Amino acid sequence: MAKIKHLECSRCQFSLSAEEPRTVCPECAGSLYVRYDLAPLRGLAHRGEIARAGSAGAWAGMWRYRAVLPEVEPVTLGEGWTPVIRSKRYPNAFLKEEGANPTGSFKARGMAMAVTMARQYGLKKLAAPSAGNAAGALAAYAAAAGIEAHLFMPKDVPFANYLEAVIYSARVTLVDGLISDCGRIVAERKEKEGWFDISTLKEPFRVEGKKTMGYELVEQLGWEYPDAVFYPTGGGVGLIGMWKAFGELEELGWVRPGKRPKMIAVQSAGCAPVVRAFEQGEKVSQMWKEAATFAAGLRVPKPYGDSIMLEILRESDGQAIALPDEEILASLRDWAQNEGVFLCPEGAAATAAYDHLLKSGYLKTQNRVVIFNTGAGLKFVDVIGETADIRRPSPAS
Ligand SMILES: Cc1ncc(COP(=O)(O)O)c(C=O)c1O
Ligand SMILES: [Zn+2]
Repeated sequence: MAKIKHLECSRCQFSLSAEEPRTVCPECAGSLYVRYDLAPLRGLAHRGEIARAGSAGAWAGMWRYRAVLPEVEPVTLGEGWTPVIRSKRYPNAFLKEEGANPTGSFKARGMAMAVTMARQYGLKKLAAPSAGNAAGALAAYAAAAGIEAHLFMPKDVPFANYLEAVIYSARVTLVDGLISDCGRIVAERKEKEGWFDISTLKEPFRVEGKKTMGYELVEQLGWEYPDAVFYPTGGGVGLIGMWKAFGELEELGWVRPGKRPKMIAVQSAGCAPVVRAFEQGEKVSQMWKEAATFAAGLRVPKPYGDSIMLEILRESDGQAIALPDEEILASLRDWAQNEGVFLCPEGAAATAAYDHLLKSGYLKTQNRVVIFNTGAGLKFVDVIGETADIRRPSPAS
């Protein structure tokens, strides 16, 4: 595994050691990136080692990339190395099925890494605001590591997220508000309560776990970049993590030279701060008022990492797209009926965006694309049932 060289601020490049737990940059409050000395890992021999060592024991799943992850004993439940499913109808569209992760979403990757480091640092109490799936994942990994989890979620969070957090025995508070309100409560109480805050992009290791999605999709496509990556965007950890992975892959010489994929950030028309900022040419987003969408994970009215995301979207020559919930639901039904995949609403936003960009001519069916289904549709049975107006009929008498 890699020794961490230092942590580096994404905004001002301030450098600090990883010897003790860190939150954000002490100079400018920017998010911190983990930096390694990658030079000893350069070259295809090291890349080949990953496939050979593959998936043994604790090093299964995303830990196959342990060469480029911090040098620690993982807290693992088998996260990562999720399937890539080729669409039946679009042979160049590959669905990255993140619903196959423990706790049924891609949040497992970030939380596995963050909790692993928390255990390493000897932290005893973690706290996080969450739209739902991050809370479920944190609750699971904290239980596995014997650490307390204090979770704050909107009161109308999908029931599965509430239930799993309670079952994993986390301390759960439902808040009359959005994830931004939950975040404020964590910030206000953390010092007094002795909580370490693992909010999105306010500590460096969730990005580090999520970056494995970038390594995986490139390896699963034969160490080649696709033309575009569709990512349902709330806080944006995965988008930022994948972009970091692409930079590392190039530094390592592990990816065949080519153009990096266009990054396509997908949001719901009911909460689209990143799309609005992208369209208006802004560097940061503005708080989205009265955010509402059945894609719970996209209900993030002002993401902390907005400026990093906007930079990535522009640098990749990508797009930011918002679609109404009706179109998202139609795509969810379409993929269930025609592909046999039960997408989560956020994943269905991404498939709807793919349809949209094919229709507009921005992409052709020949373009290779990776579409992220970030969670299992089954985690959203109450939300989808309500939105699609599907109820259990009374039995015939
Ligand atoms: C299923 C699902 N997809 C996408 C997202 C958005 O992820 P991110 O906040 O990393 O952008 C979430 C966040 O809660 C989620 O639960
Ligand atoms: Zn800084």
